[in-house]
Amino acid sequence: MSIVVLTGAGVSAESGVQTFRGGGGLWEGYDVTEVATPEAYANDPDLVLRFYDQRRRAVSATKPNAAHVALAKLEAELGDDLLVITQNVDDLHERAGSRRVLHMHGTLNTAWCTGCDERSPITNDLLGRPACPHCGKTLLRPDVVWFGEYPYGLDRIDDALSSATTFAAIGTSGVVYPAAGFVMAAREYGASTAELNLETTGLSDLFDDSRQGPASQIVPGWVDEILNSWG
Ligand code: OAD
Repeated sequence: MSIVVLTGAGVSAESGVQTFRGGGGLWEGYDVTEVATPEAYANDPDLVLRFYDQRRRAVSATKPNAAHVALAKLEAELGDDLLVITQNVDDLHERAGSRRVLHMHGTLNTAWCTGCDERSPITNDLLGRPACPHCGKTLLRPDVVWFGEYPYGLDRIDDALSSATTFAAIGTSGVVYPAAGFVMAAREYGASTAELNLETTGLSDLFDDSRQGPASQIVPGWVDEILNSWG
């Protein structure tokens, strides 16, 4: 058995991290084009750096919820047979204990140096233009994938999907590609598919099993079912 889980903002919603499409089209008060595009960064770098500094601080004050914890428990049993792909830039999966997490849209806690291409942990707000610990240049930007940029890890993701026996999408609206296409790829590779989300999505009909409810309530039960069928 090999399981691939894709998570989105809904898995962190009950930890107090706002989803992207839940705030009347605004993300933490901003239109995403104002803060999550390369053009926005070129036009107003301070606004974008301040926004991500604030997001990082806000997320550090949150805690993993029962859905993150259940997925960490699944990894503790399955080991390398589980890969969590997350679109989230928070570190709540890791703080719950997951280690096999692929952040396809990057992470809030690391910076990417556009001078030397190295990643480094963020220790000071990027708004203050700290120097890159690798090359010393002050060219650090948030290590997040903005609209119009290429997600991370797509080759590894395709490898994982091609050998998955189960694919599950948790707390994602399924409107942003390429992640929204993973269910079709998994089906074509022969995996059984499950969607766990607060409500049905435009992709629900593509899943063999579609469950609705808050992630903290429905993910632990789904994990227990998997473990019972596995053990
Ligand atoms: P969205 O905000 O688009 O969708 C969140 C989904 O979670 C919705 O379908 C909600 O119904 C569901 N949801 C909300 N609360 C929930 C709960 N307590 N339990 C379970 N489900 C819940 O977020 P994503 O699908 O993650 O990309 O968005 C995908 C990408 O679009 C993001 O990674 C980001 C964004 O623009 C980039 O920044 C590149």
